[in-house]
Amino acid sequence: MKVTVFGIGYVGLVQAAVMAEVGHDVVCVDVDQNKVDKLKQGHIPIYEPGLTPLVKSNYEAGRVDFTTDAARGIAHGEVVFIAVGTPPDEDGSADLKYVLAVAKTIAEHMDSHKIIINKSTVPVGTADKVSAKVAETLESLGKNVTFDVVSNPEFLKEGAAVNDCMRPDRIIIGTESESAEKKLRELYSPFNRNHDKIIVMDIRSAELTKYAANCMLATKISFMNEMSNIAELMGADIENVRRGIGSDPRIGYQFIYPGCGYGGSCFPKDVQALVRSATGVGYSAKVLEAVEEVNYAQKEKLFEYIMRHFGGDVKGKTVAIWGLSFKPNTDDMREASSRVLMENLWKAGAKVKAYDPEAMEETQRIYGSRDDLDLVGTKESALNGADFLVICTEWQAFRAPDFELIKEKLSSPLIFDGRNLFEPNMMLEYGLHYYAIGRGL
Ligand code: UGA
Repeated sequence: MKVTVFGIGYVGLVQAAVMAEVGHDVVCVDVDQNKVDKLKQGHIPIYEPGLTPLVKSNYEAGRVDFTTDAARGIAHGEVVFIAVGTPPDEDGSADLKYVLAVAKTIAEHMDSHKIIINKSTVPVGTADKVSAKVAETLESLGKNVTFDVVSNPEFLKEGAAVNDCMRPDRIIIGTESESAEKKLRELYSPFNRNHDKIIVMDIRSAELTKYAANCMLATKISFMNEMSNIAELMGADIENVRRGIGSDPRIGYQFIYPGCGYGGSCFPKDVQALVRSATGVGYSAKVLEAVEEVNYAQKEKLFEYIMRHFGGDVKGKTVAIWGLSFKPNTDDMREASSRVLMENLWKAGAKVKAYDPEAMEETQRIYGSRDDLDLVGTKESALNGADFLVICTEWQAFRAPDFELIKEKLSSPLIFDGRNLFEPNMMLEYGLHYYAIGRGL
């Protein structure tokens, strides 16, 4: 099938690559010429396991192409994905300017029936806005062409995006059009094996499903973080509590890991956006407001432990940090807890010596060169000359470090662990003072 994807970000690029892999003929359109040129040369703008070979091989095989030429893209695809960004605007609601600009562009160039698919995470009612924008543009140009707008949200996780797209848990199709549904069933048939994963529903429910899923997951995390704070004050160990409740299949083990707060481009933005759009329809989303508030506070947690330990003064200290990305297997630093920590430490007059397996360039790009930030090439070298160690991201490579070496190199044998990687008893045996989340003060 001929497919066009507008927006070569995370969602657009991964979706395009997996569709090409199963044999669809895909053209990706982006306004960023530099990005397009780089992709053609095999440079993938994001770190995502498995994505580089997938994009390269499909580009070389001619199944996916990249262009800034919107007219070419629109002429190509019978289905046209909109996968551009929806950044939060000032009040936290999703900014639809890029989505609507693409809708307008599609209308300007289309000469035959198109199925326009909203893949970006967009507030309930956006499909109607896209429809209105396309219809209005067609009318102003005096064009008599038909179209459908479908909501088809994406559920991929960064770090596992290729696999999530290749083997989705569910494929949500929001449409009332039988012909559009038929076309999307055909488009997704290579991904819909073993059992039927396609769930067809009305457009608004599809749009809300995406937010409800992310908000539910964010709620689980904030709930556990709140439990960890309570456990800490009551002398309980949250890791025992986690195992104790996870064994109930109604609760489950997934997404109940306490930590130094959730980050990324999705949970913080989507929780905020749903709070704002609920307010817009006269509803105050109290649970979600609390989810956001708890997360905000949780990101301060490591700094609070540090300040408490040092009696409120870390001026002149050098802090080794392991893990900067918002989670493992990505170089994404958006809303990462490490940023809150580093910025707090800098304000308090401390220096940071940091290592991350993938996010070093991104950190450099965000913070530039500064005297109080030293980005080093290995986790061991981050310990050189450092006073204590903080772990912000649970990369696999941090799970079994050389504790003797850590103790030897740090001036204070002290670890603040925002991801609960180690057993407190074991740390005690190594003679390391160990702070973790919700495991006793
Ligand atoms: C999230 C959802 O998991 C995807 O299903 C969704 O498609 C995506 O947003 C999106 O809307 O595009 P992602 O942001 O890539 O995916 O990352 P997650 O793996 O969900 O992790 C989010 C944050 O929660 C991370 O900071 C992670 O450290 C934190 N987390 C996760 C916890 O603190 N505890 C947990 O138990 C799980």
